[in-house]
Amino acid sequence: MEFQILMRFHRLPRNRIRILPPAPSRGRQLFGAIGCALCHTPRMQTAPVTNSAVLQNRPVDLFSDLMVHHMGARLADDIIQGAAGPDEFRSTPLWGVGQRMFYLHDGRTSDLLVAIKEHFSNPNDTYPASEANAVVQAFNRLSATDKQAILDFLRSL
Ligand code: HEC
Repeated sequence: MEFQILMRFHRLPRNRIRILPPAPSRGRQLFGAIGCALCHTPRMQTAPVTNSAVLQNRPVDLFSDLMVHHMGARLADDIIQGAAGPDEFRSTPLWGVGQRMFYLHDGRTSDLLVAIKEHFSNPNDTYPASEANAVVQAFNRLSATDKQAILDFLRSL
């Protein structure tokens, strides 16, 4: 209970204190266009009624759908947590991602490009293909400038 209260009123990542969502940019537009936003939903709304009037019915630029997805063999950790199977992970909220040093559930990389590429997995005997495969392929097809625009956008979050 105390932990729940602590988390509820925890301050936002530094850049998120602003009221406005991140400025429109080429990177932000591409993030939506190639499908990153299918899982990293830019904006969610808090519940219409909560035990804190301050927090209810507010937009939250979370960049997560808060859902678990099959991410395939590359990310699978063989850990079953609640109803989530070994290759299922919740879309990490990307707000504040620009201030993190290590990415993915096991902190395996500090390179955003690698973090994106790790979303890709072909199916094998144990795991289905990653749900993100088509989006990673679309990312790979972007020009170097457009890839960089997405990385810059992530760093601004
Ligand atoms: C099918 C859903 C899905 C799609 C599409 C998707 N992601 Fe993710 N993303 C996830 C999940 C799930 C994780 C957490 C994986 C983990 O922790 O191992 C994640 C993690 C990340 C992380 C690491 C964040 C951190 O702090 O550890 C970054 C960065 C990221 N995604 C960026 C992107 C970008 C950019 C795209 C588009 C090219 C994209 N994602 C497309 C589901 C998705």
